[in-house]
Order: sequence, then C-alpha cells, then structure tokens
Amino acid sequence: MTATRPVVLSGIQPSGRLTLGNYLGAIKNWVPLSATHDCYYMLVDLHAITVRQEPAVLRDRCLEFIALYIACGLDPARNVLFVQSHVAAHARLAWVLNCYTQMGELNRMTQFKDKSAKNVDNINAGLFDYPVLMAADILLYDATGVPVGDDQKQHLELTRDVAIRFNNAHGSKQAPVFVVPEPMIPPVGARIMGLQEPTAKMSKSGFAETDAIYLLDPPDSITRKVKRAVTDLGTEVRFDLKEKPGVSNLMSILSATTGESFDSIVERFNGQGYGKLKAAVADAVVECLKPVQAHYAELRADEAGLIAVLRDGARRASTVADATLQRVHAALGFIPE
Ligand code: TYM
Repeated sequence: MTATRPVVLSGIQPSGRLTLGNYLGAIKNWVPLSATHDCYYMLVDLHAITVRQEPAVLRDRCLEFIALYIACGLDPARNVLFVQSHVAAHARLAWVLNCYTQMGELNRMTQFKDKSAKNVDNINAGLFDYPVLMAADILLYDATGVPVGDDQKQHLELTRDVAIRFNNAHGSKQAPVFVVPEPMIPPVGARIMGLQEPTAKMSKSGFAETDAIYLLDPPDSITRKVKRAVTDLGTEVRFDLKEKPGVSNLMSILSATTGESFDSIVERFNGQGYGKLKAAVADAVVECLKPVQAHYAELRADEAGLIAVLRDGARRASTVADATLQRVHAALGFIPE
C-alpha cells in the first residue's frame, strides 16, 4: 500500500448468502479498483450481530464469504481483506462518532425503519447505531470513495455529515481530521430487484429461495429461477421501472453482467417476447458466475489459508486504522496512549 494512491473501502454483512445483487452492486466493481487505489474490503461481522446470528453459522459464513471475495477476483496481495471485529479501532471510533451523531439523524434511516419492522422482538441499540459504526469503518481509512449499491446512499450521506461536523469542531481547513468520502455507485446494477417480487431489492435473507440468485447456485437452478421470474402481461421489452419492473430488472441484470446497453437489448429482443430475454439473462448469469464457482471450492477447502489471509489483512488494516484513531483522540484532547 502506498500513501499516494486514493483509498477505497467497502464491506458486506456476513448474513444470509451472497446474492447476484451483492455481486453486481458491489464486489464486481471492487475488483478493478486495485489498479488505481489502495483497497480495503471487509466482512462486517460487528454489523451482522445487530440481528441474531447462530455462532457456528456466522463463523462458517465468514469463511465462505472470504473465499467468495477471492474467487470473485479480489487478490489478497492487491487488496486488504479483513474481518471488522479483528480491528479494534472500528468499535472505538464508533463510540467517538456516537457523540457527534444526532438521534434524529439515525431515526430517519430507512434501513433502520425496515429492519426494526422485520425484527420487532429485537430492536436493539446496535440496530439503531448501525450507521455510526459504518461511518467509523469508512473514516478510519481516509477513504475518498466507497463502492456500494444504491441502498447504502443514505448511510454514506450520514457519514459525510458526521465527518464534516467533526472536522468543523476539531479540524482546520488546512488539516481536517477526516477525509469526507464520496459514494461510488455503478450506473447499472446498483439496485437488483427480487425475481419474484421485482419491486423489492434482491436480498441475502429474501423471503423466498426463488427470489434471489445466490453466487453458489448451480447453473440449472439459476436458469430455473430466471425462467420463473415475474414479468407482466405484455410482450414488449423496454426499460420502465414503474410499468415493467420485472422486465426492467432482467434488462439491468443482462446489461450489468455483459456490458450490453439497454438500447441494444431493446433492439435485439424487439418483438421476441420475454422467453428469449429470460434465456439470454440466464446464460449471461451462468457465464458470469462460472469462474467464481470454479475457484470457490478449492479456496474454501483451505481454511488455514483463509484465516491467514484475514490475519494478514487485519494487521495491515490496523496499522492505518490505529493511526487515524490516535489522530482523532489527539484532536479531542485525550492523553496519548
Ligand atoms: P449489505 O451487506 O447489505 O450489502 C453489501 C453490498 O451489496 C450491495 N447490495 C446490492 N446492490 C445491488 N442490488 C442489490 N439488490 C443489493 N443488495 C445489496 C449493497 O449496496 C452493499 O454495497 N451497511 C452495509 C455494509 C457496510 C459497509 C461499511 C459498506 C458496513 N460498513 C462501510 C461500505 C462501507 C450493508 O449492510 O451492506
């Protein structure tokens, strides 16, 4: 890692199984960044426990996700891959930032509203505080960019507000304490919708097995799910989120996996009905996931190797994160450790 390259950071919660939405909205866009940026990619296990997790399942899933990160093309030699709980500075900075975040700001977060509606028995303080920990994740690394899907935009805005507030209180124009980050949201694929319910986001813990494509789904299952995707009673292939959410979603998936433009898709499937479009989408997804699936099993089998990657990542991440935390403590007037 060099101090001269801009930094990007992102993370995924190890809850549920990784979906095509996580891939197209996030991981796929992380891979090329290592050519130009210092890249930090996490598994956010501290965030995951805001919803109850079975410990053995959580542990297994973290290893599965890290193997998938690598299988998707994130080379540990060119990217810092780590688990959030291994770098103590995340929780420590979150505490500081709690004191610079207003209850009203957190109350407005749509993810908190959605998650508390789904977990009525466990609306814990962590769920409410979740975006502050996310702000700490980002600000610890002086990240200029945060590659995420569309649903994280509101959290990024809060991160920016908190960073600016802290800088105004404790920094100077010449030497701000925090770098104020920008979201990096892909033009296509930033919001992949469910196949069965195309008006709701495809999610790791979706309501039905057939609503999401998981990265480890076998090809025949992917094809079956795409063929059964909900469309509409019409026949025209065009991008129209309001009138044709299902078809628009299939177009987004095709465009994000192959790079084909919407205009070209419309022209190619003009007058052909939805069957041909679905077949093309299924083939494109199967092709796109083939190299990931080919490498996954071997990577996952080497548990000691995966743990070594995470330890090395935590060591490299801690060097940067601890220095930022000390800078923050100094700005606050804390006695140096
Ligand atoms: P999470 O785990 O919900 O999602 C991980 C990433 O996948 C993107 N994503 C999608 N993109 C397109 N279509 C979808 N259907 C879809 N579903 C998910 C998300 O936008 C995200 O980029 N709070 C974050 C994790 C986090 C984080 C961070 C991210 C914690 N700290 C610091 C960036 C920086 C989350 O819950 O993502």
